[in-house]
Amino acid sequence: MLKPFNHWLLPLLLGTLSAQAWAETDTAANPEAVQIYQDNCAGCHGQQRTGGMGPALLPESLSRLKKQEALNVILHGRALTQMPAFGNQIAEEKLNRLVDLIYTPPAEPLSFTAADIQASRVHYPQPDNDKPLFSADPQNLFIVVELGDHSATLLDGDTFTPITRFKTRFALHGGPKFSPDGRYVYFASRDGWISKYDIYNMAWLAEVRVGINTRNLAISDDGQYLMAANYLPGNLVLLNSKDLSLIDIIPASSNGDNSRVSAVYTAPPRGSFIAAMKDIAEVWELTPGEDGAQVRKIATQDYLDDFFFDQDYQHLIGSSRKGDSATVLNLDSGKETARLDIKGMPHLGSGITWKYQDTEVLMSPNLKDSRLTIIDMKNWKTIKEIDTQGPGFFARSHDGSPYAWSDVFFGPNRDVINIIDKETLSIVKTLKPMPGKTSGHVEFTRDGRYALLSVWEDDGELIVYDAKTLEEVKRLPMKKPSGKYNVYNKTRYVRGTSH
Ligand code: HEC
Repeated sequence: MLKPFNHWLLPLLLGTLSAQAWAETDTAANPEAVQIYQDNCAGCHGQQRTGGMGPALLPESLSRLKKQEALNVILHGRALTQMPAFGNQIAEEKLNRLVDLIYTPPAEPLSFTAADIQASRVHYPQPDNDKPLFSADPQNLFIVVELGDHSATLLDGDTFTPITRFKTRFALHGGPKFSPDGRYVYFASRDGWISKYDIYNMAWLAEVRVGINTRNLAISDDGQYLMAANYLPGNLVLLNSKDLSLIDIIPASSNGDNSRVSAVYTAPPRGSFIAAMKDIAEVWELTPGEDGAQVRKIATQDYLDDFFFDQDYQHLIGSSRKGDSATVLNLDSGKETARLDIKGMPHLGSGITWKYQDTEVLMSPNLKDSRLTIIDMKNWKTIKEIDTQGPGFFARSHDGSPYAWSDVFFGPNRDVINIIDKETLSIVKTLKPMPGKTSGHVEFTRDGRYALLSVWEDDGELIVYDAKTLEEVKRLPMKKPSGKYNVYNKTRYVRGTSH
């Protein structure tokens, strides 16, 4: 069932308003570049730069690409892709202005409506087989996302051999999400594509584009609903997980203010989704249903951008956008009940918890500081700070493992990984899997016996370690393997692993 029409006018307006604010930086100042774009690029990247066969070329979309890198792509093309080289056709000085153009907000307001979403749906043949076409344990599979060439590998978690490797949409964003039975996996891409893959049959089932710039995707606890968080237009989109049909569009606006949506998470015991807002000081809880989502808005003191939940999803721990504090929000009462005494910029979204003595602790890497912070979740006090060789991004563990792993993702030491003893709260070993190469993001096998680590480079590797002896077991070459996701750990929300 679709919501009445007036509910849909808003996202249209929203897209319009947020783009309007930028329209001041008009492309009219750059008419020649606009013409070059229309003549040479629009065919693949879209009239409005919102993407087509090629990716979207908008400031939001290009945030991870430096201008110089973009210029290089345009000059030389990208090997093994459809992106051609323009260096020998158009003067570099003109290409420079073209680069300025694609990093400038569009002059024309952008919109992406329910009709656009419906029209984008792609259907694939539906296989009528419901047994895995492979012999590996279907609960101990990994999906490894390889950003380097926009692919994913389905990996056997017992033998660490790839079962298949397949192309994904350009630039996946946020982790893929499994259906509760582990048969299906859903991906979100930067340009708004939601894709459903049948692991048993190793085949795509359906796709739909839900926005122009998407942050991530969450699946409801019962597996029936998907919720996508969008920057452009600023909204949340609710889909039926079965066929990816549209149920509802929820504009991210409150009291006349519009927001981008930073991320959406599933809160399993609550039967709801929790959304992080970029531009309004609110946290939203959305309860999905067949006719749409019910929205509960919780006002907060700060803009909370980066979240963590306690194991029963009663508390949300959020760090403020400025990164100088963090707060504990009781999701039942909607009240902020404590402040965390942490400095730096904790990356709470990547924090982990474990049982320690008679309490539960939360360990978080810091995006700006060279240390790990460990907090007692009973009283929210910092009980330990561990100095590291640089700021970190991901921390991971598993209930079945005595150690927590944390990377140093930034700076000259981004090739090291620290292993922390969960009993003594100190570093017991520092690994350097591939000197000079960024290493990060660890995920465990279903039983916690092995840890899989990424060497995050175009010619990277996936390295398997024995999680007890910390010895290396196997290396697999991969193209910038970013996240890896274990079916069992993700569908059971195993403590310490990524959800
Ligand atoms: C024939 C289709 C085609 C044409 C024409 C084309 N592109 Fe592309 N472009 C692509 C594809 C496909 C990619 C993605 C390549 C990949 O997989 O990395 C791409 C990637 C890019 C990227 C990198 C985006 C990112 O996020 O990494 C930039 C920048 C870019 N194109 C700019 C341009 C410009 C400017 C023009 C016109 C002068 C242009 N392209 C013309 C197909 C095209």
